[in-house]
Amino acid sequence: MPRNWADFQYEIYLNGMTGAVPRLPTDLTRLEELAAHRLAPGPVGYVAGSAGDGSTARANRAALERRRIVPRMLRDVRERDLSVRVLGRSLPAPLALAPVGVLSIMHPDAEGAAARAAAAQGVPFVLSSASSTPMEQVAEAMGDAERWFQLYWGRDREVTRSFLRRARAAGFSVLVVTLDTPLVSWRPRDLDQAYLPFLHGVGTANYFTDPAFRSGLAKPVEEDPRAAVLHFLGLFGDAGHTWPDLAFLREHWDGPIVLKGVLHPDDARLAAEAGMDGVVVSNHGGRQVAGAVAAADALPRVARAVGERLTVLFDSGVRTGDDVFKALALGARAVLLGRPYVYGLGLDGQPGVEHVIRCLLAEFDLTLALSGHTTPSTLGAADLDGTPPGEHDRAH
Ligand code: FNR
Repeated sequence: MPRNWADFQYEIYLNGMTGAVPRLPTDLTRLEELAAHRLAPGPVGYVAGSAGDGSTARANRAALERRRIVPRMLRDVRERDLSVRVLGRSLPAPLALAPVGVLSIMHPDAEGAAARAAAAQGVPFVLSSASSTPMEQVAEAMGDAERWFQLYWGRDREVTRSFLRRARAAGFSVLVVTLDTPLVSWRPRDLDQAYLPFLHGVGTANYFTDPAFRSGLAKPVEEDPRAAVLHFLGLFGDAGHTWPDLAFLREHWDGPIVLKGVLHPDDARLAAEAGMDGVVVSNHGGRQVAGAVAAADALPRVARAVGERLTVLFDSGVRTGDDVFKALALGARAVLLGRPYVYGLGLDGQPGVEHVIRCLLAEFDLTLALSGHTTPSTLGAADLDGTPPGEHDRAH
């Protein structure tokens, strides 16, 4: 029996009969403001901040808001099934938690809490290379639940090889390779506070526990943490990679590989030619290139270019259930949720993350039903008003 996500609203109303109300807002766009109110300025600036003046992050939201759903009536939407097949796995809904590094700045339970929340709700958790908890520990917290590993593809091949080996051994099934961060961008909110957690050895757990990384140090991490941080900064990114280098990853990972940060249809075609399995249309939540194309504007072009050949995923700007609807209608198979779950974690730990997942999917389920659909698979550009010319081909 598919899960009825919309029932969360009745649970909330029924709990209300004893006087209880949700601990966090159910309009997830309000979480950022609440987090800014309750959490320390350094961490909040790191999570909420973007590249440059923030124009790409604003464009992400504007592009989703600009698209408007055109609901259809009298279509019998009593029974619904939100499940989708993504990269050979069956997901209960078209959602995964996006890779977000250094979660310990938001909550002491960090990645463990977020991963347990994802597992409890059946949603895949994508663990960042830059997590504050080693990947094996996160895997242990998740039992058999679906988990993917995000790679920051650095300069040291041995470390990369070792990460892939460890991730496979720890049960991570899909490799998500982030292409848009060979360097960290100009981020005024962090610069103005001179705030960079990595300098304090936060967000380096996978590296500091890695045998290949450790073998490159003159002294053990524990004896000379400063040298370890400098070594990490030196190999974290590699701006020299080019498309043929993907063969190395293909050779060392036998599961699906997804390239994250693709915005141009030609790059999506190159991904297909390189034997990749999918792309995430994403501009890293506007954190890398100020003035960049909104992710939702790039999405239909990428979906048209490779939708038949590759699994197209989407993130950057998803805040509400109707955003999920719109992303699928524009050609995504599923979406990754970023900042909202991180605020949920900061405000209320594991329950906060579960609250965010349940709100998003309840709202998506209701939007689907009230727009005349019973499954994500029937969504297409025809469900949106004001779709620019040339975007009218059905997405699926
Ligand atoms: C990120 N993102 C990210 N992506 C990645 O591949 N590896 C990482 O370690 C991180 N770290 C990270 C930290 C923080 C604080 C944020 C907000 C984001 C990007 C993330 O996966 C996703 O692309 C964005 O969060 C999507 O944008 P929105 O929807 O959160 O605005």
